Formats: sequence, C-alpha cells, structure tokens
Amino acid sequence: MPYLASDSRYTSMTYNRVGHSGLKLPAISLGWWYNFGGVDNLENGRAIARRAFDLGVTHFDLANNYGPPPGSAETTFGLLYQQDFHPYRDELIISTKAGYDMWPGPYGEWGSRKYLLASLDASLKRMGLDYVDIFYSHRYDPDTPLEETMGALDSAVRQGKALYTGISSYNPEQTRQAARILRDLGTPCLIHQPSYNMFDRWVENGLLDVLSDEGIGCIVFSPLAQGQLTDRYLKGIPANARASKTERVWLYPKEVERNLPKVRKLNELANIREQSLAQMAIAWVLRKPAVTSALIGASTVRQLEDSLAALKHLDFNEEELARIDEVLGDGIA
Ligand SMILES: NC(=O)c1ccc[n+]([C@@H]2O[C@H](COP(=O)([O-])OP(=O)(O)OC[C@H]3O[C@@H](n4cnc5c(N)ncnc54)[C@H](OP(=O)(O)O)[C@@H]3O)[C@@H](O)[C@H]2O)c1
Repeated sequence: MPYLASDSRYTSMTYNRVGHSGLKLPAISLGWWYNFGGVDNLENGRAIARRAFDLGVTHFDLANNYGPPPGSAETTFGLLYQQDFHPYRDELIISTKAGYDMWPGPYGEWGSRKYLLASLDASLKRMGLDYVDIFYSHRYDPDTPLEETMGALDSAVRQGKALYTGISSYNPEQTRQAARILRDLGTPCLIHQPSYNMFDRWVENGLLDVLSDEGIGCIVFSPLAQGQLTDRYLKGIPANARASKTERVWLYPKEVERNLPKVRKLNELANIREQSLAQMAIAWVLRKPAVTSALIGASTVRQLEDSLAALKHLDFNEEELARIDEVLGDGIA
C-alpha cells in the first residue's frame, strides 16, 4: 500500500527551537541505531518509521555505521525514503554522522577531512539523498587538529551536502573550541548529541551550561538507557531484547541485573505519576531547558507509541525529582 502520511501528524507533537538557530526539532526524535539494519525485519522498521512520522516525529537520526552490517540502516532509510517518504522530504530532518570505524585502513574512522567527506558522500548515496539536514562529527579525534575536523563539517555545508553541523559526545572544553572554530568559519554549530539518562548524568557537569552559553541545541541519546528505564526487564531478560544480543553488544545482562533494584523503585514512582517508566524517563531528560529533543529507539510500534505519550505529562514537582535522585543515589531509598 502506498504510504499517505496522516493529516493529523502535527497535532500532538511539541517542537523545540534548536539553540539559537531557526530550526525546530520534535521533543522526541527517532534513532536508527538498532532495528533498521540489514539483519532486521524491513516491514517492522517501515511500520515504526511511518507511525513516528504520523505522530509528528519529523527527525530521523542515522550514522554511517548503523546496522548491522554497518551502512545498512542508511540503505534501509534509502529504500523507505524512495517508497514512502520521498514526497515529505521538506518535512523531514535527516541526520548522519561519521567518526567510528567504517572501512579498513587509516582513512576509515576518526576525524580527518579525508574520512569525513568521503563518508558523507557514501551516506548520501546509500540514502538516495542530495543532502542531509545535519552532519555530525560522531566523536572527538585527539590526533587530528580540531580545525581540520570542523573545516570538513563547514565544507560539507558549503558544498550543499549538509544544511547544519553537529558534534557528538564532545566534552565541555572540546565543545567550546569546536563552537569557536565553526563560528569563525561562518557555519555555527547547530547541535550537540550526548548520552543522557538517569544512569548517565555526565552532561550535568558542565556540558549543558556550555551549550546554553553558546546557543547550541542538545539532542540526548539513549534516554531509556537502551531499554533499562522501561518495563522491558522487570520480569527477566527477554530473548528478543537488546541485552540478549550476541552481536554488536552495547548492553550487558550484568549491567541490567545490577540496575534492576533501582529500576523497580523508579517504576513505582512512574506508577504514582500514572505514566510508564519509559514515559517518566523521557520526561526526566526533557525537564532540562537546554535539552531540545530526546532521541529514542524503538523495536516495535507499541514501544514507540508508549514513549511518545510521555509528552502528555512532562512536568515534575520538587518532591518527585528528589525521590528520583534518592533512588539513583548510592543509598537507595
Ligand atoms: N551519538 C552517539 O554516539 C549515539 C550512541 C547511541 C545512540 N545514538 C542515537 O540514539 C538513538 C537511541 O538510542 P537507544 O536505542 O539506545 O535509545 P533508548 O531509547 O535508550 O533505547 C531504546 C530501546 O529501549 C527499548 N524501548 C524503547 N521504548 C520502550 C518502551 N516504551 N517500553 C519498553 N521498552 C522500550 C527497546 O529495547 P528492545 O530493543 O530491547 O525492545 C529499544 O530498542 C539511536 O538510535 C541513535 O540514533 C547515538
């Protein structure tokens, strides 16, 4: 069936301005790290992407290496773009990144101009796009002058292959330097993409302040701690869950089990707020004014719908925040 986007797609989503730019992003964006690779079910991915767009998720986040195999999430996007989303290009914000290992040899990872620009060309080809909206340096490269890495992002914009630039996981000082270089080049840094969730609060130690000072937006990845801050693991580790994966493992059963006592207490707090734990975890990252968007993953349409319903109850009172801190602190409440 040809895809016709829902007429009501702009009725329930909130759109937040990205730093001091003219661009807005949905408060919740969809990441393609997992669930859209060559190993995954295409029709499930299609259903998730369609439902997301129908519910106002105008931003899909990709990277050169997403899959597996690396590159295949972009290939999946290319197929779905051609078949479903092509008429909606001007309603979509598509991002990609380069930084992690992508091809053999010295030019297949990190932050050289050689790697970044070649990778962007390859990403555009896989996705069947003329340009991406945001092109990121996926990680800081300690061995390449930052001027070279930022110069490559600036070139991508000047060549018309990207509209905006972004950086991911740069620390506060690296972020300040990157922002200064890009400003001097005349291509301001649009956005930073760091990890942020209840179990990983590093951005609170300086990064969010730098982003506010510099007028840079912030899209936080893994707000659900890869599924831990949901009901996914409350009854054990399901066979199809991320913590059961044997390939490309970024979430270990040991970690899940270690965090489970806290997750159970957080789940009780979410029940009191009359929302799911996933919804509370998303609302919790969005409570920071510097955070533009929560970048979630979803392996089913149901998960996606559950997570997007976080927008119905975003505010916290002081007592709720204190209770969450208490659970997260060493002395578990
Ligand atoms: N810049 C970077 O270096 C970087 C690094 C990592 C991620 N990212 C970006 O951030 C995106 C999101 O990362 P993430 O997938 O780790 O995010 P996440 O939202 O923390 O975790 C998503 C996982 O949580 C589970 N889940 C999601 N919604 C749920 C719900 N409502 N109820 C129960 N379980 C639910 C699913 O796990 P199951 O699969 O087990 O069902 C899903 O795959 C990525 O796709 C990527 O775009 C960027």
